[in-house]
Amino acid sequence: MSRVPVAVLISGSGSNLQAILDASADPGFPAEVALVLSNRADAFGLERARRAGVAAEVISSRGLSREAYDAALVERLSAGGVSWVCLAGFMRIVTPTLLSAFPNRVLNIHPALLPSFPGLHGAEQAWRAGVRLAGATVHLVDEGTDTGPILAQGVVPVHQDDDAETLAARILTVEHRLYPMVLRWAAEGRIHVDGRSVTIDLFPGESTSLALGF
Ligand code: GRF
Repeated sequence: MSRVPVAVLISGSGSNLQAILDASADPGFPAEVALVLSNRADAFGLERARRAGVAAEVISSRGLSREAYDAALVERLSAGGVSWVCLAGFMRIVTPTLLSAFPNRVLNIHPALLPSFPGLHGAEQAWRAGVRLAGATVHLVDEGTDTGPILAQGVVPVHQDDDAETLAARILTVEHRLYPMVLRWAAEGRIHVDGRSVTIDLFPGESTSLALGF
């Protein structure tokens, strides 16, 4: 079975990258990580990639505009022949330069139930707001900050004795299940996008499908 090559873009720990690497260690998983790119040389995720035998490179943004940086990303991603790009703790806002090279093929994970709490520190924002349910969202990336069409969400309770860190840790466990699940859908061609309306074939081979429009 030929697998769909994907890239994962990181800036830090890379625990979501690890979840994707672990999933793709199964030869039956439909995607394989062909390339890991980081904007930071000290990202621990680079080490995770190398341990898994995956090419891992730093592309520094020093002195580059956002567009020039994304053009450098596109050059490397295109040379790597990847079909999908997964942002996983990649702490940069991407531009149309990247998005137009991979139309509706850039995924992101966010530690909150979007559209609530976009931007930095989503879990902490949720904790401060006093919500009783929190979670994570995988979405397609558009030009806004965490505004693209939602593909899947996972929910966790907020406990009375939580602080921002314990809540973020609980959300992260959901992230690690959610991202490989959505990447499987992507690699199997089960995500269909029409403008901002997304249909996902949750039950392949059956006539039912779940429309997630908003
Ligand atoms: C995660 O909480 C993710 O949702 C957010 O940044 C964090 C990255 O964590 N975008 P890691 O680097 O995958 O451990």
